[in-house]
Amino acid sequence: MRRFIIAALLAGCSASFGLQAQVTERPLPRLVQKDGRYALFVDSAPFLILGAQANNSSAWPATLPKVWSAIEYLHANSLEIPIYWEQFEPQPGQFDYTLIDTILAQAREHHVHLVLLWFGTWKNGSQHYMPEWMKLQPERYLHVIDKSGHPVDSPSPFATASLDADIRAFTAFMRHLKAVDSERTVLMVQVENETGTWGTLRDYSPAAQKLFEGPVPAGVLKAMNKAGVTASANWQEVFGPEAEVCFHAWAVARYVEQVAAAGKAVYPLPLYANAALRDPLKGPPGSYESGGPTDNVIPIWKVTAPSLDILAPDIYMSDSARYLKVLSLYHRTDNALFVPETSGAPGVARFLFSALGLQVIGFSPFGLDYTRTRRPQSGAPHSPEAFLEPTAQNYRLIGPMMRDIARLNFEGKLQAVAEEKGKFTQTLHFGPWDATVSYGASRNNAAKGNPDPIGRALVAQLKDNEFLVTGLFSRVDFHPADANKRRQFLRVEEGEYENGAFKFMRILNGDQTDWGLNFGSEPQVLRVSVSTY
Ligand code: DGJ
Repeated sequence: MRRFIIAALLAGCSASFGLQAQVTERPLPRLVQKDGRYALFVDSAPFLILGAQANNSSAWPATLPKVWSAIEYLHANSLEIPIYWEQFEPQPGQFDYTLIDTILAQAREHHVHLVLLWFGTWKNGSQHYMPEWMKLQPERYLHVIDKSGHPVDSPSPFATASLDADIRAFTAFMRHLKAVDSERTVLMVQVENETGTWGTLRDYSPAAQKLFEGPVPAGVLKAMNKAGVTASANWQEVFGPEAEVCFHAWAVARYVEQVAAAGKAVYPLPLYANAALRDPLKGPPGSYESGGPTDNVIPIWKVTAPSLDILAPDIYMSDSARYLKVLSLYHRTDNALFVPETSGAPGVARFLFSALGLQVIGFSPFGLDYTRTRRPQSGAPHSPEAFLEPTAQNYRLIGPMMRDIARLNFEGKLQAVAEEKGKFTQTLHFGPWDATVSYGASRNNAAKGNPDPIGRALVAQLKDNEFLVTGLFSRVDFHPADANKRRQFLRVEEGEYENGAFKFMRILNGDQTDWGLNFGSEPQVLRVSVSTY
């Protein structure tokens, strides 16, 4: 899968002809923006990360087999997995590359890409992955201080010794990746994990307090549309009730930027930061982790941490209203949508399609490996496979056509949706054609929704009257936008993707098309030509 491209003569020939072999490395993965849309380019073409994130303590030789078997079952093309600072730098300045090398080698054996998660200064707002030698010196590697003067279980973004140590370790990690990964197994790196602080809104140490009482940096004012305020205005004066969270976001972003910039300077892979979210419908300060790239402070992070390519939401909500709101908040002209973590619960898998409708570059449910014994919940599937199945259905369907999906999305030709409870139909507009997606319809009966909202559908316009259509637990039909006209199917081809190309299998007609195009639990891909009469 990932071999060097021999760009010139083979070494043997070159020796005999006295020429030097030229070996071209694979191009670096990169984020590309065009016409307001983003794509992750891998091997110089749009790529879609169909991922799964391992559990936090799964990146060890003893547990990796339980990760790979789940990845295989899921048909995921990428694994997100942590790199632990405590393992990587057991003694100051001594780096242990063995685990990284093991993960890389095994990923290649399994023909799977990697997104590596740097569990550095922050992991879910705490410093639990700092090496022991740092934890034992809290007076040097400082904690956040709360309003009453007590240390909190969270690293201070003003701790210069911690920052220097993180820069040194992260740079060593990225330098090593550059040296050992010319195959580009690693697509992206996450810098830290869910940065910020629980339990207090910001650092109240004297050093932090002094900055809080000082002027807000001009870049932050501009990014937050506060350019009109007096240049000397302090955080409280500018941001009022949001002052503490804005200040902490700036402080954390400033720290992460220095780590990210140092790593990127040695190996410029796409980098991102993930966010523990606030409730997108009502999220006052104090109700969420303060300091990370939550939706209200995205502009602060963007201007303060320009070395990060993406700010990405970890979505653990399962209701459509909140899920769709979060997707829309992180799908911005200055931010590619990437979902690096989402609940692995079966009811959430369908939102991959909602995200595809917003040109997502990757989607990765959390904790889908076999290291965890799941307590059965009432009504929930019991076997591990039943738990993985909805994501596996997605990836069995989308995996083979992934390159086409990513390209069509980058070209702005694709729309996709997931079922919302109580909403039985959705309409997608393609100029003269409307594609209607319905759920729980039988024969010519009206749609009444699936018993649980698990439907999903995707339509891409290939030509004026030709569409690529697929889905699960849904029905798709086409209608001319002109109400005086009616549609007829000219040809409905069912095919399957082989080596990335649609291969014709049969023409569907009669019962298979008379009530619309029906998708169940099995992968089915159609190319549909329509006309009017
Ligand atoms: C979000 C974090 O980023 C993950 O590492 C993990 O802790 C999950 N929450 C919850 O299990």
